[in-house]
Amino acid sequence: MQDNQVVGIGSGSTIEYAIRRLNERVINENLKTICIPSSYQALRSLQSFESLQISTLDRNPEAYVAIDGADEVDGDMNLIKGGGGCLTQEKIVISCAKKVVIIADYRKDVQKFGQSFNFIPIEVIPMAQRPVLEKISKMFGGKPVLREAKQKAGPLVTDNGNFIIDWFFDKDKDYDWNEVNISLSLIPGIVETGLFIQTAHKVFFGAADGNVTSRG
Ligand code: A5P
Repeated sequence: MQDNQVVGIGSGSTIEYAIRRLNERVINENLKTICIPSSYQALRSLQSFESLQISTLDRNPEAYVAIDGADEVDGDMNLIKGGGGCLTQEKIVISCAKKVVIIADYRKDVQKFGQSFNFIPIEVIPMAQRPVLEKISKMFGGKPVLREAKQKAGPLVTDNGNFIIDWFFDKDKDYDWNEVNISLSLIPGIVETGLFIQTAHKVFFGAADGNVTSRG
């Protein structure tokens, strides 16, 4: 990491460790880092570290690196993201970064999607949720369900005011995830999918004993 670098910051629980480490390095090495949060959670977390500067894509439309978590990483370095309800802003921030680094625990390192995580989160415009659920069922089978909020009655609402459909795919089927992602993206009402096709340059997996392995 160098001085004055712009860093995209993802969401989820794992990214919290990266934010803390970034803050340590900024303080210890007297660096200036400009962070672009990709969710309200990331924004709040960054706000708790005074040494980390916060910016937006309006001010800094390009990032040197984006760091994020993932729900699963397959053998082709495709990612499932959005388990925590954030995916659209993550995909936007990642698309603006020269390098994309993913950090995850070893259980998310799989050859084929569906070993530890068996659904694709999909952000959808609220008024389109019913037709989108039906179209996903017809086109791909499996079971798409509207994600419910945990502590309020009704659907979960994303940072963008939308709903999330979790599509439980057929784990035994061999999907072409690139094709699936393109087809999903063409359904009117779908804002973004949690399929991140070959966007990661490097993935680090933390093992239970503290060792780290990497791919890419
Ligand atoms: C947020 O919705 C996601 O895209 C996260 O990056 C992903 O769910 C990984 O989250 P954890 O680090 O909490 O497992």
